[in-house]
Amino acid sequence: MSGTWDELIQEIKSRLDIVDVVSEQVILKRRGNTYWGLCPFHKDKHPSFAVTPSMGIYKCFSCGEGGDAIKFIMKTKNMEFREVIEDLAQKFGLEVPKTHKSNGSTRELKDQMLKATEIAAEFYHDLLLRNKTENAELALAYLTKRGIGQDIIKKFHLGIAPKAYTSLYDELRKDFSNDVLEKAGLVLKSEKGGFIDRFRNRVIIPIQNENGQFIAFGARAIEEGQNPKYLNSSDSLIYNKSKTLYGLYTAKDAIKAEDSVIIMEGYFDVISSQAHGIENCVASCGTALTQDHIRLLSRYTKSRRIYLSFDTDSAGQKATAKGASIIKEVFAGLGNIKQFDESYIASNPQSDRYACEIRVIAPPEGKDPDEFVRSVGADAYKMYMQNAPLYIDFRINSILKDKDNYKTPQEKAQYISTIIPVLGEIQNPIIREEYTQTVAGALGIDSSVIKTELESYYRANIPRVERIVKNVTKNDSVVQKAQKILLSVFFVPDSHLTFTQINEMIGETAFNDEILIIVKSTIDKLICSVNNVKELIEHLYTEFVDNPDAQAILPELVEHAQAYKDLSEEEFRNVIKEAIAKINKCKHVEEVEHIKKKYKGIDDNDPEALKIQIQLRDKLRMKKEKSEMN
Ligand code: UTP
Ligand code: MN
Repeated sequence: MSGTWDELIQEIKSRLDIVDVVSEQVILKRRGNTYWGLCPFHKDKHPSFAVTPSMGIYKCFSCGEGGDAIKFIMKTKNMEFREVIEDLAQKFGLEVPKTHKSNGSTRELKDQMLKATEIAAEFYHDLLLRNKTENAELALAYLTKRGIGQDIIKKFHLGIAPKAYTSLYDELRKDFSNDVLEKAGLVLKSEKGGFIDRFRNRVIIPIQNENGQFIAFGARAIEEGQNPKYLNSSDSLIYNKSKTLYGLYTAKDAIKAEDSVIIMEGYFDVISSQAHGIENCVASCGTALTQDHIRLLSRYTKSRRIYLSFDTDSAGQKATAKGASIIKEVFAGLGNIKQFDESYIASNPQSDRYACEIRVIAPPEGKDPDEFVRSVGADAYKMYMQNAPLYIDFRINSILKDKDNYKTPQEKAQYISTIIPVLGEIQNPIIREEYTQTVAGALGIDSSVIKTELESYYRANIPRVERIVKNVTKNDSVVQKAQKILLSVFFVPDSHLTFTQINEMIGETAFNDEILIIVKSTIDKLICSVNNVKELIEHLYTEFVDNPDAQAILPELVEHAQAYKDLSEEEFRNVIKEAIAKINKCKHVEEVEHIKKKYKGIDDNDPEALKIQIQLRDKLRMKKEKSEMN
């Protein structure tokens, strides 16, 4: 079928699912009809990024960024509208009308780069497999020494880059421009002005994207003194290191099937492990782990169970700590991180109960996965994996292992200061207590000392945002809840009532929470000028740019409003009436209490006493009348 450009756009839009599109970059959690996650456009600590599939839009209630699926792709991938459409057309197998095919567009360039990279991968691979170049022998011997035979060479498309300066260039220059080859990172401009191959005399490890396309290379030295040990492709139009994981293409089915993934450090860790039947493993490509890597993985594991399997040396330990903190950042706000192995009591584990689960595989032999699998065996590795401790346990255990190095009171104090933040992270108070006792016992000190330290740690460290969130959800009093309901009714899409009608119903009902008062008065101000809920929300965010507390409460109100969407007009009015009644009732009780207090403190002969007595009587009578009316 070939249609017009506009038809193509329509067709693509109808096929896009906003939740799928956004999920590629943001971890979303469903609540009612809305999906929430951390905003990718600003540093978000609490989920303020909402995706509403029924409207096909996303919106960050904190930074204000919003739009549809196409805008999302444009913003996150930094692409032009036309490019996105062309990309998606290709993905969906739709034809781009000839009149709109762009010449020399980025799309075209990317296609050429992909093609050249693929041919390069085949070229290097073929040289190795058929032993067709002078150093192929050396490379094969090197790989054999590492336990890598023909099968593995084929599965991972390993290759050899010849020693000569222009082997690949000579092969590719017939079909590709210098520009394409240079941009794909296959050749470098030489000092003399010509081009030379980027990779020479190295074992070639081609890097594939999720879809199996060859996009870059890692290249390992094969001779003594050859530096660096690994030479990697730089980032390019088709390769973004911080969003690419080595081995993902061959691991993704296993990651899905086992609902877990192992992150390793090196190319050969992944190659050896996958070759020995540990298939759900990946590694970053010569760069540190990023949030994007974790987001990428989270699409394949529902329960977000991630194993870190790094070297056991101090650099590996640091990488483990860094990795764990990145994972936590990505999943922050989605709920608690699993910190407690209840598998032996819960027969029915719910995959969505935890934001994520981080475990550490650290065999005491201290070898990297590649060496371990080859020398000790894949079965032993799998055993360590099955018994891998949760990250929190791993940390406490490794701190406890060090305890004997701390003997003097000063040393002990320093030791306690390192362990306090770790204990402080434990969410379950019973487990925290257990560990506190263990640590105290190990150090030979009273556990009350640690508890005191923990308390001051908590006072200093509970993030403000968390405090706000706590205030507005769990600890809400009846009145506060009712006040929030009275605010959220303004955010019901296609409401039965206009803003003014709602306001007439609310009338003089008094709010008593400072932030809620501000929100209400701002709504009052705005409803004269805005036309719909969407505009109201947008304006509120603008009004509250300097008031994060007020901003923080908006997503909750908007989300809550979804619950009232399908009510009849009468039901909707009743929601408002009930909320008003609750607020008034509590207000009344407060007033009576207040007058009673005043009355108690007064001398009966004081003329004021009579006045107060009358006030009190009136109030109580009013209450009686009201309750008779209802
Ligand atoms: P390691 O130096 O820990 O070695 O690099 P390794 O993976 O065990 O390598 P082998 O077994 O000696 O071959 C871990 C990872 O760090 C990146 C690579 O991705 C490597 O797999 N790296 C290391 C580089 O990018 N460049 C280097 O020079 C070294
Ligand atoms: Mn190694």
